[in-house]
Amino acid sequence: FITQTVLYLQDDGDLLTQLKDQDASVIATDKYKDRVSMAENSSLLIAAATLKDEKTFTCMVVAGADISEYPVKLLIHKAPTGVEITALATELEIGKPTQLGQCSTSDANPAASITWFKNKKPLVADGKGIIISSKVKVDEVTGLTTTSSILQYTAEKGDTAALFTCGALNTLSSPVSFTVTYPTERISLHVISKGPLMEGANVTLKCKADGNPPPTSFNFHILGKVVKVENSDSYTVTDVTRESTGEYKCSIIDNAKMEDSKNITINCKSLFIYRYLDQWFKLLIIFVHSFQDNGKLDSRPTFDKLTYSDSGKYEVVVTMGPLIKKASFELVVEGVPVIRRVAKRRGEDGQHKVLTCEAEGSPKPTVAWSVNGTSADESPYVNGKITHKLTIVPTVNLTVVCTVSNELGQDTRTINVSTLFEEVRMDKQDSSDEGDTTKLVVGVIVGLLLATVVVGLAYWLYMKKSKQGSWKTGEKEDGSTEESKKLEEKIEEKLEENSQKVEV
Ligand SMILES: *[C@@H]1O[C@H](CO)[C@@H](O)[C@H](O)[C@H]1NC(C)=O
Ligand SMILES: *[C@@H]1O[C@H](CO)[C@@H](O)[C@H](O)[C@H]1NC(C)=O
Ligand SMILES: *[C@@H]1O[C@H](CO)[C@@H](O)[C@H](O)[C@H]1NC(C)=O
Ligand SMILES: *[C@@H]1O[C@H](CO)[C@@H](O)[C@H](O)[C@H]1NC(C)=O
Ligand SMILES: *[C@@H]1O[C@H](CO)[C@@H](O)[C@H](O)[C@H]1NC(C)=O
Repeated sequence: FITQTVLYLQDDGDLLTQLKDQDASVIATDKYKDRVSMAENSSLLIAAATLKDEKTFTCMVVAGADISEYPVKLLIHKAPTGVEITALATELEIGKPTQLGQCSTSDANPAASITWFKNKKPLVADGKGIIISSKVKVDEVTGLTTTSSILQYTAEKGDTAALFTCGALNTLSSPVSFTVTYPTERISLHVISKGPLMEGANVTLKCKADGNPPPTSFNFHILGKVVKVENSDSYTVTDVTRESTGEYKCSIIDNAKMEDSKNITINCKSLFIYRYLDQWFKLLIIFVHSFQDNGKLDSRPTFDKLTYSDSGKYEVVVTMGPLIKKASFELVVEGVPVIRRVAKRRGEDGQHKVLTCEAEGSPKPTVAWSVNGTSADESPYVNGKITHKLTIVPTVNLTVVCTVSNELGQDTRTINVSTLFEEVRMDKQDSSDEGDTTKLVVGVIVGLLLATVVVGLAYWLYMKKSKQGSWKTGEKEDGSTEESKKLEEKIEEKLEENSQKVEV
């Protein structure tokens, strides 16, 4: 007869045995006593396995005199309990290797290996940007291992929103992300304003830097003046004028080279059209006062060649989009009187001399002579010009002074007048007075020619808007420019007043 006995053994002793056609019986007396059993199909079942069960179990089959042995090396697998990232970096700086964090997973057998992921893609150590160092620790009591992996990472642009995870086996950690910092590489100046920049507005300049975190302080260069702004990226220039037109800059405090600039044009409140309304002239002189193009003062009516005849009524048509406003103002040109000419002429009867003093000025100047005479005659005061004549009978050689004056000042000129009696004796030898008449006649003819040339020239210069067109003699350039400025101011004031009264 044949008996078959199945016997399970381990290194430290027998576990259980089963005789043919009988139930298996446990023979172990140690810690396996309550944990071993045999399945229907003769498999050995071990309950509550621990790492200590990692050993060789042997199945021994005895059939008659034959003994067969089947040793099996038992491996105990233990999945890690969890994966977590600790020791997180506070922030990542672009280009700077930083320890991003430590990933660990514990109680595993065999030791788990950890993989890092960025946006679900595995990170592979390249020894440069990505350095991964792993460590395995075995628990002395349980024999289970804890694996930890430190990722040293060099951030690049675009890592701002990146999600980092690490995983072991099928377990993934919670994702972590980082603030990625980088120095400012570009800076841009923005002008915060609705629509075109108008006089009187507040203009806010905003400086944007692409660094993270953004700089907190900036230098604003306002028309060459540096203003340091802290804890803000904006600066407001209040109540701008046309003079505020120019170049504005901003830069970061610690690197002046990192800057941006903008040319800002402050537009005049409106488009002004100055229309000359003197009825004596058929010509309408229209100045278009617009700052849309270059914001320069040249486009205003500057009156560089301002003359007294520019006095008169002006109308300003102000257009702003669909709105049209009209205002008028009286332009009064004022100036210190200037004597243009003093002259003498012998009377027709040869018994007297007529002195002439021609002057320009406004308000109307008074003319005074240093000698007493008769037939004082004053021409009408037109366009700031006045001509005064005086008839005298010189008994001796005289030095006559003509003085013109008004509230703003005065001017004098002298003329030598020789006695009539000597002339009579000298008769035609005195050519000086005769010469005057001849010169005057010539002067008139030449003057007419000149006037023609000058009118043409003036027109051309006006069209050219050139400043070099001042052709008036004896006029001080500085004075006229200053007059122009004062005048503009007056016009502006007048305009303000009038504009307020005008209905839209
Ligand atoms: C034997 O039975 C056990 C428990 O019933 C089962 O887990 C095991 O897979 C079986 N083995 C084979 C080889 O059929
Ligand atoms: C501003 O104007 C100046 C002078 O015309 C010029 O040199 C500069 O390049 C301009 N700057 C910008 C930002 O346009
Ligand atoms: C002019 O006449 C007044 C009075 O008629 C006289 O007082 C004055 O001296 C005279 N002046 C000259 C310069 O002759
Ligand atoms: C008057 O002036 C003339 C020249 O203009 C001169 O010849 C004459 O001597 C002068 N007479 C007196 C009295 O000074
Ligand atoms: C007038 O005569 C004086 C001397 O007689 C002379 O010094 C002066 O220059 C002359 N003035 C004019 C304007 O001719």
